[in-house]
Amino acid sequence: MSAAHRRSVILGTGSELPTKVVTNRDLERMVETSDEWITVRTGIKQRHVLEEGKGNADMAYHAAVRALADAGMEANDLDAIIMGTVTPDYLFPSSSCVLEDMLGARKAFSFDVNAACSGFLNALAVADSFIRTGQARTALVVGSDALSRLLKWDDRTTCILFGDGAGAVVLGTSEKGERGILSVRLRTDGSHVKTLYVPAGGSLKPTNPETVQNNEHTITMNGKEVFKVAVRSMEEISRQALKEAGLGIDQVALVIPHQANRRIIVALAERLGVPLEKVVVNVDKYGNTSAASVPVALDEARREGRIKPGDVVLLNAFGAGFAWGAAVVRF
Ligand code: UT7
Repeated sequence: MSAAHRRSVILGTGSELPTKVVTNRDLERMVETSDEWITVRTGIKQRHVLEEGKGNADMAYHAAVRALADAGMEANDLDAIIMGTVTPDYLFPSSSCVLEDMLGARKAFSFDVNAACSGFLNALAVADSFIRTGQARTALVVGSDALSRLLKWDDRTTCILFGDGAGAVVLGTSEKGERGILSVRLRTDGSHVKTLYVPAGGSLKPTNPETVQNNEHTITMNGKEVFKVAVRSMEEISRQALKEAGLGIDQVALVIPHQANRRIIVALAERLGVPLEKVVVNVDKYGNTSAASVPVALDEARREGRIKPGDVVLLNAFGAGFAWGAAVVRF
């Protein structure tokens, strides 16, 4: 069968949120903020935070085990493990290698993809390409991040926004039929690198006592700028992905956007002309979980019965880089 007819299909999904919960009321005791401000400006009420002593792969593992069980597959059935993350367990090797070992996946190749909040969509695009070209028959795609590790907990402009979590999907190969990933579109604009970034800890500014003193290992963000570009960019790329799939927005049963801020999601839905009932919103429970946000929301939507066979689902994300993307999937 030629690659032109081959498609990747989502066979299973899973997610994991750490047990520790930090509410807006908890944050009121840590910084000068209020539950009301956070709720009105972001829609966030609480977020989950990874326990001390645990790493990203611990969350990814539980999400992956659930996705494999949902797909009726075992770790040794996997040809590839691709993980979107900016908070790996170690600077190197990749967290996907840590995950591979935890799962006992002995036949896979694995690597991480760094595209911040768009990490899952980028990882999905890579895995989809491997499957369509026949280099892999199956793949585990994970979006997992622990941005709590990069937060300055006395900076109210960032610490209220983010949370930790992991989501996973298992992809298989379909040689015919209508189901599967119909299109994926990705974009970046590197002129915005410093609008949202972690200044130190990389090769340009390695860790030293001064960078630690200055808190340069934490997230620095111009939130207003991110907000503005995010809405416009996600609308544009969603339309491109739909066009490539040969579908109109009216044919979409459910939109699963990156969960950064309820106001961003509402503005995006308005611009796309989609009623909010058709949009998944869980930012109130988890905050912005970076690469995990889309696969966690996808997993929840499936488990809540919001996605039926034949439904077309639009996924989209936007984050640091700037990097953004959209995918159209028929279930
Ligand atoms: O995946 C991508 C990751 N990032 C994002 O998606 C972030 C996108 N941006 C946003 O979500 C919003 O821009 C924020 C939620 C970050 C901020 O909302 P905003 O409506 O743009 O507020 P602002 O930054 O204009 O701040 C308004 C006021 C300021 O006070 P003044 O200058 O008006 O006196 C801030 O100092 O609110 C103040 N403020 C706060 N007050 C209470 C900022 N953070 C807080 C806070 N609690 N946590």
